[in-house]
Amino acid sequence: MPLTFPSAHPGPGSTTAENALVTVPVDLGTRSYDIVIGPGLIAGAGAWIKALDPQATCAVVTDANVAQHHLDPLLLGLAAAGIRAETVVVEPGEGTKSYAGFAKVCDAILAARLERRDFVVALGGGVVGDLAGFAAASLKRGMRVVQVPTSLLAQVDSSVGGKTAINSPLGKNLVGAFHQPSLVLADTGVLDTLPPREFQAGYAELAKYGLIDDAAFFEWLERNRPAIEAGGAERAQAIAQACRSKAAIVARDEYELGDRALLNLGHTFGHALERLTGYDGTRLVHGEAVAVGICLAFRFSTRLGFGTGQDANRVARHFQAARLPTRMNDIPGWNAAPDAMLDAIAQDKKVQRGSLTFILANGIGRSFIARGIDHAAVAAFLASEMGTT
Ligand code: GLY
Repeated sequence: MPLTFPSAHPGPGSTTAENALVTVPVDLGTRSYDIVIGPGLIAGAGAWIKALDPQATCAVVTDANVAQHHLDPLLLGLAAAGIRAETVVVEPGEGTKSYAGFAKVCDAILAARLERRDFVVALGGGVVGDLAGFAAASLKRGMRVVQVPTSLLAQVDSSVGGKTAINSPLGKNLVGAFHQPSLVLADTGVLDTLPPREFQAGYAELAKYGLIDDAAFFEWLERNRPAIEAGGAERAQAIAQACRSKAAIVARDEYELGDRALLNLGHTFGHALERLTGYDGTRLVHGEAVAVGICLAFRFSTRLGFGTGQDANRVARHFQAARLPTRMNDIPGWNAAPDAMLDAIAQDKKVQRGSLTFILANGIGRSFIARGIDHAAVAAFLASEMGTT
């Protein structure tokens, strides 16, 4: 399969480091932008942002953990480029994607007197990207945002495509907006310092692209997972391939009226699992919920007569090799009832007029959108998975 890099982007300068970068364009007419992937992009972000707008001021939003490792290099690079930057540091963790967290970020940016054409710079993982992105979408009816994702999960999924949101007590990502970034800078160097559990969680979102519509990519991942974990050239290749897949889907369905829903493979179950574990990252982080959710989606597909049990087992084996959970009982302290799970699933954003939609699969690389799934079929499947039948 063609997992070679496209020609290097010249970048805002012409150093050797920039020649190691890969650029994936996201083609959305007037809202088009580039995803730049490679080492050194945090320290170099000032030059990239200056190339977008030499006059702009930045509000860097990050969390306390990411700040320790990556804030100083970013701020030094911004200062070297002559860009004024304000900083907003939030608490790490999913709990920050709340009404209170959103108000804190918005008020800090307003207090710093940034203007609509200035940039919010989201430096962090999925939580920071979603929160800062939604603040940018809302402030002054739409500030520009540059996503600087620092987790594997954010680099292959959440920083790309313009989905921004916070959580409501009633469910995950229920309050948000589509707001495309002006630029995504995915610095692959940061992944070397990522805690192993965070890296593994992001791996589930990476494998998702193979499972949706690219069986050859999934086979490539099966062969290359150890090299991807070890940080070889295969890691950057995998990230670039995931970004190309996502860019293609977003370009044809920006607002999720059709195909883009495929990117939610594993998420209907996964979001319900996160809700029922109280968004407690010590028990379950988003990528782990997606891993269990994808395995559930494949087993549910088999139960409904789609695909084969062998495919479902192959997916679970790959996730087990990646040290990811594959069953609800793998979640520490899991004790939810099937009814509670069904109720949480009913909050999914894909529910239309009360009817459940799932992303199911006819096999590896053959996912499809299944509308009108019967509540009773889901209930029976959950009961069998939870050992109550
Ligand atoms: N993370 C799914 C999407 O961007 O559509």
